[in-house]
Amino acid sequence: MVQFKSLIYTPICTAALAAAAAPSIKLESFRDVLNLTSGFDPVKAAYWTGLPHHRRTPFAVSPDGKTGYIAYLDASGTDVHVQHIEPSSMTPKGPDVTIPGLKEAGGLVAHDHGFALLGNEAIPSSVANAPPDNTPVPAIYRYKNGKQVWKTFVAGPGVHESDGLAMSPDMNGDLVWSEEAQLYGAYFVITSYTGASKGHFGDSIEYVDDSGELQTITGATSAWGCSHNTGIAFEAADEPPFASICAEDQGAIWLNTKTQGMGNNGIKVSNENTTNGASGEPMGGMSGSYSSLARFDNSSSYIFAWVSRGSIDLTENDWMGEGYTHTLNRTNGRRVAIAMFSDKETKVSPQASSEVGAADGDSQVNWVTPTEDPDRSNAHVATFDDHYALVSWEEIESPACEFIAMGCGGTFTGTYFQLVDKDGQKVGEPVKSMDTYVAGDMVTLNDGRICWPYVNMAWSLDKGDVYSGVEGQKTASSMSFACMSLE
Ligand SMILES: *[C@@H]1O[C@H](CO)[C@@H](O)[C@H](O)[C@H]1NC(C)=O
Ligand SMILES: *[C@@H]1O[C@H](CO)[C@@H](O)[C@H](O)[C@H]1NC(C)=O
Ligand SMILES: *[C@@H]1O[C@H](CO)[C@@H](O)[C@H](O)[C@H]1NC(C)=O
Ligand SMILES: *[C@@H]1O[C@H](CO)[C@@H](O)[C@H](O)[C@H]1NC(C)=O
Repeated sequence: MVQFKSLIYTPICTAALAAAAAPSIKLESFRDVLNLTSGFDPVKAAYWTGLPHHRRTPFAVSPDGKTGYIAYLDASGTDVHVQHIEPSSMTPKGPDVTIPGLKEAGGLVAHDHGFALLGNEAIPSSVANAPPDNTPVPAIYRYKNGKQVWKTFVAGPGVHESDGLAMSPDMNGDLVWSEEAQLYGAYFVITSYTGASKGHFGDSIEYVDDSGELQTITGATSAWGCSHNTGIAFEAADEPPFASICAEDQGAIWLNTKTQGMGNNGIKVSNENTTNGASGEPMGGMSGSYSSLARFDNSSSYIFAWVSRGSIDLTENDWMGEGYTHTLNRTNGRRVAIAMFSDKETKVSPQASSEVGAADGDSQVNWVTPTEDPDRSNAHVATFDDHYALVSWEEIESPACEFIAMGCGGTFTGTYFQLVDKDGQKVGEPVKSMDTYVAGDMVTLNDGRICWPYVNMAWSLDKGDVYSGVEGQKTASSMSFACMSLE
């Protein structure tokens, strides 16, 4: 660790008391190592509740391991900045890039000499068929050596016009790249502004090739998928369709790689109580939808992590019909769950039940946190290698869950990190930290560490806590990183 001696380097001791053979995890933090070129508001108010979420700062590291990229929305709410860093120390490297006019930093892919970002920008009303009220439209921006080489809109004027045009007030999506397929995939939340679904919220999956050409791929591209998608999980595959999961407003979370939508021929991963379009922010809600689905190294297997209140009393969903159900939640606080997939469209263990009248709708769930009293949120997952994965979440020991099917408020009582294996078994006890948060993508580096960005600040999950609990109250001027290593 000699190379870090000039940094504010804070090792956090963990209980590494496990038997010699069993691996353990070790957390290290790099606090305030990157000064930001512009201010950043680290708090995003959640849909419906206004409860504080971390505002996502997308993070990615190039395949050669030489450059890290961190993207963040300017504190003014317009412009996304992408700073280049040295991944061994997380310190500035340059060039610093500003993409003007963007309203959201929604996903980042690193290449050896540049990056691709999923952003969201308003289209001038002078453009034919532009969305109303300057509502932003998602686009992919490709930069090489600090210069933009292309920009491709993945919704808006001219994109799947016959299915209706789409915009994204809150894109809440993710961007991935497949080296094998030489394709970018973007999965994001949309609102239609023309056509049959005008005024409705849904989601879209779009593919763009390396030269910036939007592709229409049968069985992969999707103009409209899950209704009121409030959570996306997306990961690359060797060929399209890429691995995708949605949380919809009818009562389920679907592995929808094959269907791209919420068809009952998809894999029902979970039954969730839904109200007002939400299902308990399973993939982080507003500013979430990253590092929820991860692929094991050299393997076709994936792991998915989410939070759930469980499911009891499955009742008929007469609007959707067979294969769909409504459910009540089993618990007040949310628990962390994981699901394993042997390939991008196959769940290892049984699907969630669709049996109307069943008392238990969650018997298939592999719970990571057994007890029900606390509330867990902001669950994420990344894989270390071909066998081990890291699951993280935040906890409120005594939550106030006043909103049905939304997040809970209360005093933050820690970020937890649990090592799990490819069979979905927990390995050792979770590591707890009171001052490290996951606020951007969890990235596996070439040296085997999993690293992610966060803002070094007092964190609150209570509404209205000045500075840490209110959007627009704090401007961060530096970024911190944390890494977990497998010992
Ligand atoms: C960040 O900026 C502050 C104040 O401008 C300065 O004191 C500090 O050394 C800088 N930190 C790094 C890591 O460059
Ligand atoms: C969700 O649970 C609430 C009670 O907590 C219930 O009132 C509501 O009907 C449930 N939603 C569905 C779609 O069953
Ligand atoms: C995956 O395969 C590559 C290429 O064969 C190899 O370098 C790498 O070590 C493998 N990863 C693991 C975790 O075995
Ligand atoms: C169901 O969840 C809501 C919050 O969504 C909570 O208020 C209620 O107490 C929960 N029901 C049970 C049985 O725990």
